[in-house]
Amino acid sequence: MQNNAIVYRPTLAGRIAKVLLPVMNKVLPNGLYASIYNVLYSGYKSYLARKYILRRFFVNAFGSDDERLKAKLVVKLLPYSMGGHKALENAFDVTLLAERDGIVGDIVECGVAQGGTAAMMLETSRLVGSGSRHKWFFDSYEGLPEPTLEDYENGKTGDFIRPLPKGSCLGTIEQVGELMFGVLSSSKDEVSLVKGWFQDTLPSMSSVIKSIAILRLDGDWYESTKIPLEHLYPLVSPGGIVVIDDYATCFGSRRATDEYRNLHSINTPLNEDGRGGIWFRKP
Ligand SMILES: C[S@@+](CC[C@H](N)C(=O)[O-])C[C@H]1O[C@@H](n2cnc3c(N)ncnc32)[C@H](O)[C@@H]1O
Repeated sequence: MQNNAIVYRPTLAGRIAKVLLPVMNKVLPNGLYASIYNVLYSGYKSYLARKYILRRFFVNAFGSDDERLKAKLVVKLLPYSMGGHKALENAFDVTLLAERDGIVGDIVECGVAQGGTAAMMLETSRLVGSGSRHKWFFDSYEGLPEPTLEDYENGKTGDFIRPLPKGSCLGTIEQVGELMFGVLSSSKDEVSLVKGWFQDTLPSMSSVIKSIAILRLDGDWYESTKIPLEHLYPLVSPGGIVVIDDYATCFGSRRATDEYRNLHSINTPLNEDGRGGIWFRKP
């Protein structure tokens, strides 16, 4: 597949929001705009969650065992996800693939926020595999850093409904700890939450991790994709899976991925997740 054939196609609600929100932001006072945005966003999220429950009903009646498990986990983990059901479904699918193919290594996510896709990989690995893989979840746990020059194209950093300033997409280490060690009853021998900027944590942690079966990159920006690729891709096992969540939505993430794949002559196909993310396998 041609890289430029992979594009982000927003839903109808997303397209309407892309037109309406900038207008509202211009005409309304900041505080009022933020309150209206928060009400609309949480209303939309709970509408999507209800719609997915309906879908689960049909999957339960007509789907395979794997589809039933996937739908059950999506309903459970949607409240913790910023990427919605398609990101969660893709996290399920790639974990199932890695488990069924017996790919050696740990599960790593760089860009965890409130833990949705991280938890999906953890739960899936436990339920369809031996559960013995270690999970490494890297994040500042302080939200996004500023984008850098490499993130911009024509003055924009990506195809978003609204801008992503420093500190957005926040999930704290306490929130993710409560999900991993409380709700999902993981032990600290199984899950490591590594707090800090990738630039600071990955150079030393990459000598602690032995091998990686799934490397999920969800840090939005150029540096936040490039740095994990440089430090962690060499640890991915043959046949291991690399997910780039923001490939078609964030210009810098696509640029860092294309540069890295070209530099290392990685020609395995890019598979789409249906919402602008991609995944590929290490040859
Ligand atoms: C879009 S969110 C991740 C969404 C998450 N995977 C989910 O399931 O909802 C992006 C995350 O990447 C983190 N991040 C981005 N760049 C980073 C960097 N350079 N160092 C550490 N964390 C970073 C942010 O803190 C934020 O939590």
